[in-house]
Amino acid sequence: MGNKDDESFHPLNMELDTAAELPSAVLLTVLGYGHVLSAVMWLGAGLLTGFVIGPSLRKMSPPASLEFNAKVLPRITSFVRMAVASTFVFGILLLYFFQDGDMSWLMNSTQGYVISAGVLLAVVTAVLAFGFTIPAFAKVSKLSAEALQSGKPPAPEMMGAGRRAATGSMVGVFLLLIVLAMMVISGFAF
Ligand code: HEM
Repeated sequence: MGNKDDESFHPLNMELDTAAELPSAVLLTVLGYGHVLSAVMWLGAGLLTGFVIGPSLRKMSPPASLEFNAKVLPRITSFVRMAVASTFVFGILLLYFFQDGDMSWLMNSTQGYVISAGVLLAVVTAVLAFGFTIPAFAKVSKLSAEALQSGKPPAPEMMGAGRRAATGSMVGVFLLLIVLAMMVISGFAF
């Protein structure tokens, strides 16, 4: 695809030399679209939860916030799980097809170093999401559903789980903003 051997190659700037290169260009475009859309869903859900839903929940009446936690939070956590998984699936495929299966550029070009650091940080963020933040949200939903059913106040562990969920999502959003910067820098700066 034209200038692929050039170290500053980027699919966004590719020039098609022959019609035979079109399928590869279409594939990269589809993978890039899926990857960026999934990343937007992941980061968007984190920003909305941390900056809009969390602060609003603290202002709602206890029964209203319990109902929200029990009925809406599980949908948000499923959405985030799906977005994380598809960001990784599209991202890994993009990584593979970016230079036709040759991954050596990751370790021998500045663009590769930046992407590699971004991927590493994305893995840390996903481990934090699946290992800490999502389980904390799941606990909040479960305890809220139990309190709604029994008509009694929620179990005392709910405060701790809520704090863990809020901290985990803020740290996750912060890390994702850094990953986003690295991905964009790798696409535009080299
Ligand atoms: C396993 C995790 C990931 C892998 C393997 C991966 C891989 C890639 C690759 C190969 C590219 C194309 C390279 C380039 O444009 O220079 C890319 C672009 C991009 N990635 Fe990721 N990525 C991952 C995670 C993420 C995350 C978590 C975000 C969002 C926070 C993200 C946002 C983006 C964006 C916005 C672009 C387009 C950048 C551009 O072309 O200017 N990626 N990613």
